Amino acid sequence: MDHNLHLDFLRVTEEAALRCAKWVGKGERAAADQAACEGMRAMLGELDIDGTIVIGEGERDEAPMLYIGEKVGTGSGAAVSIAVDPLEGTNLCANGTPNAIAVLAAAVDEKGWLMHAPDCYMEKLVVGYECRGVVDITLPPRVNVRLMAKALGKDMDEITIGVLERPRHDELIRDVREAGARVHLIPDGDLSVAIAALDPDSGVDGLMGIGGAPEGVISAAAVLCMGGEMQARLRFTSDEQRERAKTMVEGDLDRVFFDHDLAAGQVMFSATGVTSGDLLRGVRYRRGLAITESIVMTSDTGTIRRIETRHRTD
Ligand code: FBP
Repeated sequence: MDHNLHLDFLRVTEEAALRCAKWVGKGERAAADQAACEGMRAMLGELDIDGTIVIGEGERDEAPMLYIGEKVGTGSGAAVSIAVDPLEGTNLCANGTPNAIAVLAAAVDEKGWLMHAPDCYMEKLVVGYECRGVVDITLPPRVNVRLMAKALGKDMDEITIGVLERPRHDELIRDVREAGARVHLIPDGDLSVAIAALDPDSGVDGLMGIGGAPEGVISAAAVLCMGGEMQARLRFTSDEQRERAKTMVEGDLDRVFFDHDLAAGQVMFSATGVTSGDLLRGVRYRRGLAITESIVMTSDTGTIRRIETRHRTD
């Protein structure tokens, strides 16, 4: 594997974050997303890779760029499968609220693999390495938080679970609270919070609930790099979605997927903060400077880098 490639991917997420940061708080989610896509695509185009987008902005007929199957890079160099979310949390960016990030995961040659996620929902349970092998997504949430508290050596009211604030999670939220744990409600952006749950110092111990499946696969790539555990189940809202998933996912669609079923082998991961949140600080400006914070990781070495970059804007 090219050991500098992950730093090239860092530049890709930085560029996406820098471009959409200009749209933070402007209430224009489409413009913010487009800016992030353009930045990401422009930087990917400069890389000496034979890249293919496996998770992106949608199918070819519905997304003008970074669509599934799009070739990126100069075409010379390693074959790379790339999963992107140029702006994860478009509403968060448009509203200037926490946890918007630009993110990319990549699998190089035959050594790594990322599931080609169907466009459906995914029920997720993400925990850090101390809780690996301890939790079980088929158990009620209250049982899992108790198991987590024991594994982490914490009191129940010291456990924090990130959950997307959606009516579908009312019962989950009640269950976690009744068990005595704390719920960190997020309006959007379960990918940021999934990765934060892998970091013992983030203040978030786990992520539970249903969010996007593509974001789930990218979260699994982060689990591979950081340790911890992810368990997931696909959730469909129509027969059409289920039929489409059958063409993309082998085996029983209703089984529990573990992190290594969603992402495997050698993968690289880069995320850059757009708005400050649980995982990263957002883009900040000083006279003539834009400052970004990113997390860059590779699964083969397990190296995790937090990188602050000062970009000249003058
Ligand atoms: P976007 O970046 O596409 O706006 O997605 C944000 C997000 O909140 C994800 O973090 C999450 O997985 C998904 O949307 C949840 O979907 P829904 O809003 O339909 O509940």
